[in-house]
Amino acid sequence: MAARYPMNKFLIVLTAGAMALSGCGGGEVASSGGDKPKIGFLVKSATEVWFQQEWKFADDAAKDFGFDLIKIPTPDGEKVLSALDNLAAQGAQGVIICSPDVKLGPAIVAKCKAVNLKLMSVDDRLVNADDEPLTEVPHLGISAYEIGKMVGQAIVDEMKARNWNFAEVGAIAVNFEELETARQRIDGATEVLVANGFDPGHVFKSPWKTQDIPGALDAANITLTQHGDIKKWVAFSSNDDGVLGVVRATEGRNISAANVIGVGINGTSGVDDFKKPQPTGFFGSILLSPRKHGYDTCKTMYEWIKNGTEPPKETWTSGILITRKDYEEKMKEEGLL
Ligand code: GLA
Repeated sequence: MAARYPMNKFLIVLTAGAMALSGCGGGEVASSGGDKPKIGFLVKSATEVWFQQEWKFADDAAKDFGFDLIKIPTPDGEKVLSALDNLAAQGAQGVIICSPDVKLGPAIVAKCKAVNLKLMSVDDRLVNADDEPLTEVPHLGISAYEIGKMVGQAIVDEMKARNWNFAEVGAIAVNFEELETARQRIDGATEVLVANGFDPGHVFKSPWKTQDIPGALDAANITLTQHGDIKKWVAFSSNDDGVLGVVRATEGRNISAANVIGVGINGTSGVDDFKKPQPTGFFGSILLSPRKHGYDTCKTMYEWIKNGTEPPKETWTSGILITRKDYEEKMKEEGLL
């Protein structure tokens, strides 16, 4: 699969040791000094490992290029708008955002214009009231549909390796319907399953209310209760947390790991399951590049501020499958271990 969807070469950067972080009312500012440009980086969840990794690489960029990075967690719309005011008050020139609600797009654009902040989105693309992407805002995200297909293929390959009769298997798709990148990931995985003979009536989309592991566990438990006759399960979602919720739910019902194949996306929280002595139902994950999402977005924003070089309107990143057999080697190659 890696050959079919080749990775762009990850950017190689020299990173120095951790930088001194100084607390600040409206977020964490990495180093400080004179006339350095200031760039805000707002994320929808500061507790999700993916966003912690993005911030870490953003810190590296701040150090390499010499700008101040202001990191603010913005789990709701109100916090987004107050963070933008806060950035403006601190004299920031640009902001990179993964919004907790992409429908805030027009409000975010209007606010950034009003306070003269250059705006880029990362991960979750901003949309208007009709759910259409705000194509004028430069965006860096994953090739969600292709990555979903990689998830589906990994599941199909493993079902075949275990000699499963597909007719006996159920699929739990923990889905966050409001978000296009999440829908595309689920659609890609579903398409590959069905193209390989999986019964579309056995793909159970399970709505994910809070985008965390407990929320996914709740979603999975509802589906498992409704289909108690099914003994073998596969699981996919928009990221590792979604799949981990399903895996924990199957464990809670004493469904053996041998009867569960979960494949996540991110290569973050799911990796903890690979480290357990016995395999769990978390079989694999598509490892993404938090470096591209954190470092490259900052570099692009910095160059926009410094030289007026406009960022590309769209950048789509790829991923590679990791499993408990090869994750260490592959993560080392990507500078993530
Ligand atoms: C979304 C997901 C994250 C991560 C990013 C990658 O924001 O919620 O977990 O997968 O996409 O772009």
